[in-house]
Amino acid sequence: MNYVDYAAIVLDLVLRATNRHIKTKVLSLEHQGPAAVLLSREFCKNEPLCRVLGLNESDVLPFFRDQVRHIAQQGLGIVAVDRSGTLQGVLTVEDHMQQFEPQAEGLPEGLSIIGAYLESTQVPDHFLPKKAGEVCYIGLASVARGRGNRQVLSMMMLASHKMLRPLGYVRGYAKVTNPGIIKRFRRLEKIARGPVFISALTAKPKDFVYKGHRPFADYDGETSVFTWTALGAGRRAK
Ligand SMILES: CC(C)(COP(=O)(O)OP(=O)(O)OC[C@H]1O[C@@H](n2cnc3c(N)ncnc32)[C@H](O)[C@@H]1OP(=O)(O)O)[C@@H](O)C(=O)NCCC(=O)NCCS
Repeated sequence: MNYVDYAAIVLDLVLRATNRHIKTKVLSLEHQGPAAVLLSREFCKNEPLCRVLGLNESDVLPFFRDQVRHIAQQGLGIVAVDRSGTLQGVLTVEDHMQQFEPQAEGLPEGLSIIGAYLESTQVPDHFLPKKAGEVCYIGLASVARGRGNRQVLSMMMLASHKMLRPLGYVRGYAKVTNPGIIKRFRRLEKIARGPVFISALTAKPKDFVYKGHRPFADYDGETSVFTWTALGAGRRAK
């Protein structure tokens, strides 16, 4: 076992010991309703692009419900629940080659705009797989606001790492606009004593043109496409 394997196990144990009220599980169909509600609520309130477009919880709920069903069927997503069984976090994980494709009909325009923008921020070709079972995509992450929830995202990332690596998914990526995620990523890296999440591309939503206009013209933030290679897999994303 190398140092980073050991560090990941220690970090996992520490997080579990200090967050005993939270457990992580594989996202399954039983979580579909609560996960869709959590994602709709937190994205409309806290995700930068959804906020700029003023998306509405009830409008986006059907989209999240469909997406969560797709994730549950693949069995790669992770949820965090507290002792009472209440959902505290969701991490959607998909195989890069088998990604969710929403029904265009009835999709709120704001979600089409965000989808087109994310589509325009591409992962470098050399990182992409030739077949299924190699690269996972973390599309959505959401944590319920509340006391004692500061480590939920890190716990879900580690749970996902533990589950995916033996399945052969040693590489992953995410398109990150929320600065809170970048901060969590950097904290997780401290234990590995080196970079894990590589920023492969940075885009500015305000430069994105959709049907002749710039929907995010007033937003100054960035989107980073982060890639990573599983801790201890012996290779790193370039
Ligand atoms: C993204 C998300 C899962 C992160 O949850 P979290 O791990 O609890 O992280 P926080 O939101 O508390 O942010 C982590 C840190 O970044 C900081 N941060 C958050 N937004 C920030 C911003 N705009 N600029 C600078 N720092 C920011 C927080 O203050 C916090 O720092 P602290 O721990 O020192 O207080 C959560 O914010 C969420 O559910 N957001 C809604 C959905 C979303 O945006 N998902 C991401 C797109 S997939």
